[in-house]
Amino acid sequence: MQHILLCGGSGTRLWPLSNKQTPKQLLPLFDGQSLLQLTWQRNAFACDSVLAIVNEQQVTTVTDQLHNSGAEHARWIAEPVGRNTAAAIALAAFIADPETILLITPADHLIGTPDVYAQTIFQAEKLAADNHLVTIGLRPAYPETGYGYIQYDGNDVLRFTEKPDPLTAEAMLDSGDYLWNSGIFCGKANVLLQQLELYAPAIYTAAAIAADEFLESGRILQTTMEAIPADSIDYAVLEKSNIVKVIPSTMEWSDVGGYEALAEALAKHYQYSNNQAVFIQSDPVNSMVLGKDKLVALVGVENVVVVNTPEALLILQKGKGQEVKQLHQWVKENR
Ligand code: GDD
Ligand code: MG
Repeated sequence: MQHILLCGGSGTRLWPLSNKQTPKQLLPLFDGQSLLQLTWQRNAFACDSVLAIVNEQQVTTVTDQLHNSGAEHARWIAEPVGRNTAAAIALAAFIADPETILLITPADHLIGTPDVYAQTIFQAEKLAADNHLVTIGLRPAYPETGYGYIQYDGNDVLRFTEKPDPLTAEAMLDSGDYLWNSGIFCGKANVLLQQLELYAPAIYTAAAIAADEFLESGRILQTTMEAIPADSIDYAVLEKSNIVKVIPSTMEWSDVGGYEALAEALAKHYQYSNNQAVFIQSDPVNSMVLGKDKLVALVGVENVVVVNTPEALLILQKGKGQEVKQLHQWVKENR
């Protein structure tokens, strides 16, 4: 298989720890490794090559990190402007060998059980060899509205619903017939292209032009990229296609979608220590100080995440992490 790493994140939910230059997947928080590096390492067993689809501004950091963690032959496509996942995946599929199975993964997820993950990927690869698009599904834990939901029967997908409204999400959770879409999936390059041509012909045609430009000159012009309609692969293809299968997995998965998830992952799996944090009459288990720019002392405070960077100091009540995105927007517009 060929590993396609989607590195387009903008890092708004982990601001000020992450920002445009250093989004979530590039922060070396996990025993000195970044989510990008962990993602590459986790998939190396199944893939003989890796292609990163990266925002132009992050190419140097992404390629340095990949090379430093052993992916010496990593290749990349620089996007002058992001046009969402359908465009990024179409570009990868056009430049890959048509029969190759592409294992497409976000670069910013954390998986706590690499062995279970590996088994899941082996199963997925088998179905992909039979010309299916294969998603990885997880048992939903709460009615998240930012994920895709897969109604399933064994490996069959009865229905794929991207980002449901709150009531629908609640009903799908209660029914027990649905899985969350992990955002990790695989399929042959030619099968992906055939489905894109069928369900998203405008993306297919514009991405073909961009891929030709890349193959001829090694780069894509901003105008060429902007001509690709922006849509996610979930809306453009997965919701519509009838060749989608799912592998239900019990792997421990997080898309590190906010500070609470980050703090939990660090506390559970990594030796995150911060010699710039002091806790007095505060519970160091329930609070976390991220960033080491100056001494941070918590006295009698609980359930907070403090983020201490040269750009800004964020003090966050746990449970309010999703509001950081709006806060970041406010800072962008007003400061
Ligand atoms: N190269 C590139 N270019 N990568 C991109 C772009 C782009 O224009 N847009 C997004 N990505 C990358 C993101 O960095 C992320 O790693 C991944 O593709 C998914 O994009 P998100 O924007 O994070 O998608 P989402 O969270 O709304 O939803 C997806 O992920 C959920 C699980 O985390 C969907 O696949 C859902 O169905 C799924 O449940
Ligand atoms: Mg996401």
